[in-house]
Amino acid sequence: MKLTLPELRRDTPLVMVTAYDYPSAQQAERAGMDLILVGDSLGNVVLGYDSTAPVTLSDVIHHTRAVRRGAPETFLIADLPFGTYHTGLHDAMRAAIKILQETGADAVKLEGASPEVLEVIRVLTRNGIPVMAHVGLTPQTEVSLGGRKVQGRDEVGAQRIVQAALDVEAAGAFAVVLEVIPARLARLITEKLDIPTIGIGAGPYCDGQVLVYHDVLGVYDGEKKIAKRYAELGRLATQALSEYADEVRTKAFPTRENSFIIKDEVLDKLY
Ligand code: KIV
Ligand code: NA
Repeated sequence: MKLTLPELRRDTPLVMVTAYDYPSAQQAERAGMDLILVGDSLGNVVLGYDSTAPVTLSDVIHHTRAVRRGAPETFLIADLPFGTYHTGLHDAMRAAIKILQETGADAVKLEGASPEVLEVIRVLTRNGIPVMAHVGLTPQTEVSLGGRKVQGRDEVGAQRIVQAALDVEAAGAFAVVLEVIPARLARLITEKLDIPTIGIGAGPYCDGQVLVYHDVLGVYDGEKKIAKRYAELGRLATQALSEYADEVRTKAFPTRENSFIIKDEVLDKLY
Protein backbone atom coordinates (compact mmCIF):
# COMPACT_ATOMS: atom_id res chain seq x y z
CA MET A 1 0.00 0.00 0.00
CA LYS A 2 1.21 3.45 -0.90
CA LEU A 3 2.27 5.58 2.06
CA THR A 4 0.51 8.87 2.60
CA LEU A 5 2.35 11.93 3.90
CA PRO A 6 1.14 11.69 7.52
CA GLU A 7 2.27 8.05 7.65
CA LEU A 8 5.86 9.16 7.06
CA ARG A 9 6.07 9.92 10.78
CA ARG A 10 6.54 6.58 12.51
CA ASP A 11 8.86 4.42 14.55
CA THR A 12 10.41 2.07 11.99
CA PRO A 13 12.98 3.75 9.76
CA LEU A 14 11.82 4.78 6.29
CA VAL A 15 13.53 3.06 3.38
CA MET A 16 14.05 4.88 0.11
CA VAL A 17 15.95 3.80 -2.98
CA THR A 18 16.41 5.39 -6.36
CA ALA A 19 15.01 3.83 -9.52
CA TYR A 20 15.28 4.98 -13.11
CA ASP A 21 13.35 2.54 -15.26
CA TYR A 22 10.60 -0.09 -15.32
CA PRO A 23 12.55 -3.10 -14.00
CA SER A 24 14.33 -1.23 -11.20
CA ALA A 25 10.98 0.24 -10.13
CA GLN A 26 9.31 -3.20 -10.14
CA GLN A 27 12.13 -4.61 -8.03
CA ALA A 28 11.95 -1.70 -5.58
CA GLU A 29 8.19 -2.06 -5.18
CA ARG A 30 8.35 -5.85 -4.79
CA ALA A 31 11.09 -5.39 -2.16
CA GLY A 32 8.70 -3.19 -0.18
CA MET A 33 10.40 0.19 -0.40
CA ASP A 34 8.52 2.95 1.43
CA LEU A 35 9.65 5.59 -1.06
CA ILE A 36 11.15 5.54 -4.53
CA LEU A 37 13.18 8.47 -5.82
CA VAL A 38 13.89 9.16 -9.45
CA GLY A 39 17.07 11.02 -8.54
CA ASP A 40 19.00 13.20 -10.91
CA SER A 41 21.83 10.78 -10.05
CA LEU A 42 20.25 9.46 -13.25
CA GLY A 43 22.89 11.62 -14.94
CA ASN A 44 25.76 9.71 -13.32
CA VAL A 45 24.55 6.14 -13.06
CA VAL A 46 22.35 5.78 -16.13
CA LEU A 47 23.28 8.46 -18.66
CA GLY A 48 27.05 8.47 -18.12
CA TYR A 49 27.58 12.15 -17.27
CA ASP A 50 30.12 13.04 -14.60
CA SER A 51 27.65 15.18 -12.64
CA THR A 52 23.92 15.72 -12.18
CA ALA A 53 24.01 19.20 -13.76
CA PRO A 54 23.36 18.12 -17.41
CA VAL A 55 20.15 16.25 -16.49
CA THR A 56 17.11 17.94 -18.03
CA LEU A 57 13.46 18.12 -17.11
CA SER A 58 12.58 15.88 -20.06
CA ASP A 59 15.18 13.30 -18.91
CA VAL A 60 13.52 13.16 -15.49
CA ILE A 61 10.02 13.01 -16.96
CA HIS A 62 10.97 10.24 -19.40
CA HIS A 63 12.46 8.07 -16.64
CA THR A 64 9.83 8.86 -14.01
CA ARG A 65 7.08 7.72 -16.37
CA ALA A 66 8.82 4.35 -16.72
CA VAL A 67 9.32 4.10 -12.95
CA ARG A 68 5.67 4.86 -12.27
CA ARG A 69 4.64 2.07 -14.65
CA GLY A 70 6.89 -0.33 -12.72
CA ALA A 71 5.85 0.86 -9.26
CA PRO A 72 2.23 2.01 -9.34
CA GLU A 73 1.71 1.46 -5.60
CA THR A 74 4.76 3.15 -4.09
CA PHE A 75 5.15 6.78 -2.99
CA LEU A 76 7.19 8.27 -5.82
CA ILE A 77 9.38 11.36 -5.72
CA ALA A 78 11.11 12.94 -8.73
CA ASP A 79 14.10 15.28 -8.57
CA LEU A 80 13.66 18.75 -10.01
CA PRO A 81 16.77 19.04 -12.21
CA PHE A 82 19.34 21.79 -11.88
CA GLY A 83 18.11 24.95 -13.56
CA THR A 84 14.40 24.14 -13.42
CA TYR A 85 13.75 25.99 -10.15
CA HIS A 86 16.49 28.65 -10.30
CA THR A 87 14.93 31.12 -12.72
CA GLY A 88 11.92 32.25 -10.73
CA LEU A 89 8.85 30.96 -8.96
CA HIS A 90 6.79 30.73 -12.10
CA ASP A 91 9.32 28.45 -13.82
CA ALA A 92 9.63 26.30 -10.67
CA MET A 93 5.85 25.89 -10.46
CA ARG A 94 5.67 25.02 -14.17
CA ALA A 95 8.44 22.40 -13.86
CA ALA A 96 6.92 20.78 -10.76
CA ILE A 97 3.42 20.71 -12.25
CA LYS A 98 4.76 19.25 -15.49
CA ILE A 99 6.50 16.45 -13.58
CA LEU A 100 3.43 15.58 -11.53
CA GLN A 101 1.01 15.76 -14.46
CA GLU A 102 3.12 13.88 -16.98
CA THR A 103 4.56 11.18 -14.74
CA GLY A 104 2.16 10.44 -11.90
CA ALA A 105 4.86 11.15 -9.30
CA ASP A 106 3.55 12.03 -5.83
CA ALA A 107 6.11 14.68 -4.93
CA VAL A 108 9.21 16.54 -6.11
CA LYS A 109 12.60 17.01 -4.51
CA LEU A 110 14.91 19.98 -4.80
CA GLU A 111 18.26 20.98 -3.30
CA GLY A 112 19.42 23.75 -1.02
CA ALA A 113 18.02 26.33 1.36
CA SER A 114 18.94 29.69 -0.15
CA PRO A 115 16.28 32.40 0.25
CA GLU A 116 15.29 31.77 -3.38
CA VAL A 117 14.94 27.99 -2.90
CA LEU A 118 13.02 28.50 0.36
CA GLU A 119 10.58 30.73 -1.52
CA VAL A 120 10.16 27.99 -4.14
CA ILE A 121 9.40 25.44 -1.38
CA ARG A 122 6.85 27.84 0.12
CA VAL A 123 5.09 28.49 -3.18
CA LEU A 124 4.99 24.83 -4.26
CA THR A 125 3.73 23.54 -0.92
CA ARG A 126 1.21 26.38 -0.58
CA ASN A 127 -0.18 25.20 -3.92
CA GLY A 128 -0.47 21.57 -2.90
CA ILE A 129 2.74 20.17 -4.34
CA PRO A 130 4.58 18.07 -1.75
CA VAL A 131 8.28 18.95 -1.62
CA MET A 132 11.14 16.88 -0.24
CA ALA A 133 14.15 19.07 0.57
CA HIS A 134 17.84 18.13 0.39
CA VAL A 135 20.66 19.77 2.39
CA GLY A 136 24.29 19.05 3.29
CA LEU A 137 26.15 17.85 0.24
CA THR A 138 23.98 19.02 -2.65
CA PRO A 139 25.36 17.45 -5.86
CA GLN A 140 23.78 20.00 -8.24
CA THR A 141 26.04 22.68 -6.75
CA GLU A 142 28.89 20.50 -5.50
CA VAL A 143 31.53 22.45 -7.42
CA SER A 144 30.83 25.51 -5.30
CA LEU A 145 30.88 23.32 -2.16
CA GLY A 146 34.45 22.31 -2.97
CA GLY A 147 33.65 18.90 -4.46
CA ARG A 148 32.16 15.73 -3.03
CA LYS A 149 33.30 16.08 0.56
CA VAL A 150 31.76 15.88 4.01
CA GLN A 151 29.75 18.99 4.83
CA GLY A 152 29.27 20.61 8.23
CA ARG A 153 32.38 19.49 10.05
CA ASP A 154 33.32 22.91 11.43
CA GLU A 155 31.11 25.08 13.60
CA VAL A 156 30.15 27.54 10.89
CA GLY A 157 29.38 24.81 8.36
CA ALA A 158 27.47 22.72 10.90
CA GLN A 159 25.42 25.71 12.05
CA ARG A 160 24.60 26.53 8.43
CA ILE A 161 23.25 23.01 7.82
CA VAL A 162 21.18 23.02 11.02
CA GLN A 163 19.68 26.34 9.95
CA ALA A 164 19.08 25.04 6.41
CA ALA A 165 17.19 22.03 7.78
CA LEU A 166 15.08 24.22 10.09
CA ASP A 167 14.39 26.60 7.21
CA VAL A 168 13.22 23.96 4.72
CA GLU A 169 10.91 22.54 7.38
CA ALA A 170 9.48 25.99 8.12
CA ALA A 171 9.05 26.57 4.38
CA GLY A 172 6.80 23.50 4.18
CA ALA A 173 8.96 20.55 3.07
CA PHE A 174 7.45 17.21 4.15
CA ALA A 175 10.87 15.53 4.59
CA VAL A 176 14.52 16.37 4.10
CA VAL A 177 17.45 14.41 2.71
CA LEU A 178 20.68 14.89 4.67
CA GLU A 179 23.62 14.01 2.43
CA VAL A 180 27.19 13.33 3.60
CA ILE A 181 27.23 15.10 6.95
CA PRO A 182 28.61 13.81 10.28
CA ALA A 183 26.38 11.27 12.03
CA ARG A 184 25.97 13.27 15.24
CA LEU A 185 25.11 16.42 13.31
CA ALA A 186 22.39 14.41 11.54
CA ARG A 187 21.17 13.22 14.95
CA LEU A 188 20.97 16.78 16.24
CA ILE A 189 19.01 17.85 13.17
CA THR A 190 16.72 14.81 13.43
CA GLU A 191 15.97 15.76 17.06
CA LYS A 192 15.28 19.38 16.16
CA LEU A 193 12.94 18.70 13.24
CA ASP A 194 9.38 17.41 13.21
CA ILE A 195 9.58 16.26 9.57
CA PRO A 196 11.47 13.02 8.84
CA THR A 197 15.15 13.18 7.95
CA ILE A 198 16.38 10.74 5.31
CA GLY A 199 20.10 10.19 5.34
CA ILE A 200 22.71 9.19 2.79
CA GLY A 201 26.18 9.16 4.24
CA ALA A 202 24.63 10.78 7.31
CA GLY A 203 24.87 7.95 9.84
CA PRO A 204 22.32 5.81 11.66
CA TYR A 205 20.30 8.42 13.57
CA CYS A 206 18.12 9.70 10.72
CA ASP A 207 14.43 8.79 10.42
CA GLY A 208 15.17 6.99 7.17
CA GLN A 209 17.88 6.06 4.70
CA VAL A 210 18.26 6.45 0.95
CA LEU A 211 20.73 4.78 -1.39
CA VAL A 212 21.31 4.81 -5.11
CA TYR A 213 20.06 1.58 -6.75
CA HIS A 214 23.35 0.98 -8.56
CA ASP A 215 25.31 1.31 -5.30
CA VAL A 216 23.06 -1.16 -3.43
CA LEU A 217 23.40 -3.68 -6.24
CA GLY A 218 27.09 -3.22 -6.97
CA VAL A 219 26.62 -2.31 -10.61
CA TYR A 220 29.84 -0.25 -10.64
CA ASP A 221 33.09 -0.27 -8.69
CA GLY A 222 32.14 3.26 -7.52
CA GLU A 223 30.80 4.23 -4.11
CA LYS A 224 32.39 2.42 -1.15
CA LYS A 225 32.14 4.59 1.96
CA ILE A 226 28.52 5.67 2.27
CA ALA A 227 26.77 2.79 0.53
CA LYS A 228 26.68 -0.92 1.21
CA ARG A 229 26.75 -3.35 -1.69
CA TYR A 230 24.15 -6.06 -1.21
CA ALA A 231 24.99 -7.73 -4.52
CA GLU A 232 27.62 -7.69 -7.27
CA LEU A 233 25.35 -7.24 -10.27
CA GLY A 234 27.98 -5.48 -12.37
CA ARG A 235 30.39 -8.39 -12.14
CA LEU A 236 27.58 -10.89 -12.65
CA ALA A 237 26.37 -9.04 -15.75
CA THR A 238 29.84 -8.82 -17.34
CA GLN A 239 30.37 -12.52 -16.60
CA ALA A 240 27.04 -13.47 -18.13
CA LEU A 241 27.64 -11.35 -21.24
CA SER A 242 31.09 -12.89 -21.77
CA GLU A 243 29.61 -16.38 -21.47
CA TYR A 244 26.98 -15.46 -24.05
CA ALA A 245 29.69 -14.15 -26.41
CA ASP A 246 31.76 -17.32 -25.91
CA GLU A 247 28.81 -19.60 -26.57
CA VAL A 248 27.86 -17.80 -29.78
CA ARG A 249 31.45 -17.95 -31.01
CA THR A 250 31.83 -21.64 -30.15
CA LYS A 251 28.31 -22.40 -31.48
CA ALA A 252 27.15 -23.65 -28.09
CA PHE A 253 24.22 -21.26 -28.35
CA PRO A 254 21.57 -21.42 -29.70
CA THR A 255 20.69 -25.11 -29.46
CA ARG A 256 17.65 -27.11 -30.66
CA GLU A 257 15.78 -26.00 -27.53
CA ASN A 258 16.11 -22.39 -28.57
CA SER A 259 14.99 -23.08 -32.14
CA PHE A 260 11.71 -23.56 -34.02
CA ILE A 261 10.90 -26.50 -36.28
CA ILE A 262 9.45 -26.66 -39.76
CA LYS A 263 7.93 -29.83 -41.29
CA ASP A 264 10.09 -31.83 -43.80
CA GLU A 265 7.43 -31.72 -46.53
CA VAL A 266 7.30 -27.91 -46.36
CA LEU A 267 11.04 -27.52 -46.38
CA ASP A 268 11.58 -30.10 -49.17
CA LYS A 269 9.52 -27.97 -51.54
CA LEU A 270 11.89 -25.06 -51.01
CA TYR A 271 15.06 -26.95 -52.02
O1 KIV B 1 19.78 11.96 -7.09
C1 KIV B 1 19.80 11.19 -6.10
O2 KIV B 1 19.99 9.96 -6.22
C2 KIV B 1 19.59 11.77 -4.78
C3 KIV B 1 19.70 10.88 -3.58
C4 KIV B 1 21.06 10.34 -3.39
C5 KIV B 1 19.19 11.53 -2.35
O3 KIV B 1 19.34 12.93 -4.69
NA1 NA C 1 19.48 14.13 -6.62
